[in-house]
Amino acid sequence: MHYYGTSAVNEDGHLEIGGVDTLQLVEKFGTPVYVYDVALIRERARGFKETFERMGITAQVAYASKAFSTIAMVQLANEEGLSLDVVSGGELYTAIAANFPMERIHFHGNNKSKEELEMAIEYNIGCIVVDNFYELGLLQELCEKKQVKMKILLRVTPGIEAHTHDYILTGQEDSKFGFDLQNGQAEEALLKGMDSSYLEVLGLHCHIGSQIFDTTGFVLAAQKIIERLDEWKKRHQFTTKVLNLGGGFGIRYTSEDQPIQPSEYVEVIIKEVQNKAAQYNMEMPEIWIEPGRSLVGDAGTTLYKIGSRKNVPNVRNYLAIDGGMSDNIRPSLYQAKYEAVLANKPLQKADEVVSIAGKCCESGDMLIWDLPLPKTNDEDILAVFCTGAYGYSMANNYNRIPRPPVVFVENQKATLVVKRESYEDLIKLDLPLKETVTLKN
Ligand SMILES: Cc1ncc(COP(=O)(O)O)c(C=O)c1O
Repeated sequence: MHYYGTSAVNEDGHLEIGGVDTLQLVEKFGTPVYVYDVALIRERARGFKETFERMGITAQVAYASKAFSTIAMVQLANEEGLSLDVVSGGELYTAIAANFPMERIHFHGNNKSKEELEMAIEYNIGCIVVDNFYELGLLQELCEKKQVKMKILLRVTPGIEAHTHDYILTGQEDSKFGFDLQNGQAEEALLKGMDSSYLEVLGLHCHIGSQIFDTTGFVLAAQKIIERLDEWKKRHQFTTKVLNLGGGFGIRYTSEDQPIQPSEYVEVIIKEVQNKAAQYNMEMPEIWIEPGRSLVGDAGTTLYKIGSRKNVPNVRNYLAIDGGMSDNIRPSLYQAKYEAVLANKPLQKADEVVSIAGKCCESGDMLIWDLPLPKTNDEDILAVFCTGAYGYSMANNYNRIPRPPVVFVENQKATLVVKRESYEDLIKLDLPLKETVTLKN
């Protein structure tokens, strides 16, 4: 079994993370519970940052907080000197509550509302990644009204789509995000931005996909963008200060995944941008990236209690846990795969193959298919690895199941950073029938 970061088997034969016995975590915080290995998050952050520093490149590594946004996580990102990518008023609000430096916040999204843009202007955030013409017009109008100048990046679609190992070069990019680089829309957006006294176009942004295992897609994207920037320099005297190549760096969920190290992605990206910049006699831009999953994904482990079992002879053994698609929707949403062990006996030999079912009323609520495990008893603890990204942040209250707490572990210490939702929390926004406001014709 592959263990991540500080995860290991301790003297008592239990899984420990950050030097803390997972069974003690279960005793104190109950199940299900998300556990984050803080040392591993720090290691990943440093892996990205130090490569830029070592290669003498001015850079920002922005944590894509959609992967896992809570006050403590945003504070940890700040401790590690990361910037922050937010995609909604809610993620921005979390950053404000965490006291995150506003100048290192980048605001994304394909349909930012007027209120969200006003909030970004009011807090004077570092930059807005403008996605479309509607937003460009709205932002210009709001900045003019407030008489402020806002830094922007233009999100472009370079015509490259990455799906883990495959790259699709598309002529006309069919995406809801960004300005198309090939059909003239990106250039039109650039001219509009350059024309405005209230906007400063810092440069371009692209994000080619997620869970990408090699560097080809990033290299292709950098090439395409820099070629276009060269044209724009000649035609419009535009010099880019920033080139943001997004996130999407792959991680290991199961033995099928073989990602490269953060430093390797960064080195290849830097070298390509340097080569192209030299080829076109262009000033080296700052390079920004936006890792989400690769900063927090493998640092998260979810602990569940095993409950009911259903054996269908010669077909399948179902083993149910006390969570499921309400705390990890990725398997039902896009067949994501995970590995798991029994936290109370991780080294015990597997003697059966089971499929792990969630407790939600959906046949599709299956967490792991065909997992080899030792014979289990109810109350055994299942530790599912690599649940740190898009787990808690996509958690929901389907079947009115309260969301689990989040615990950070580091140096033998456990800290509760998100409380378990209670039944009272679940109904706190509900209004009884007689108090609801009814609209009459
Ligand atoms: C614009 C942008 N940046 C960064 C990310 C983070 O991607 P990942 O978590 O795969 O690194 C995403 C993910 O959807 C994204 O849309």
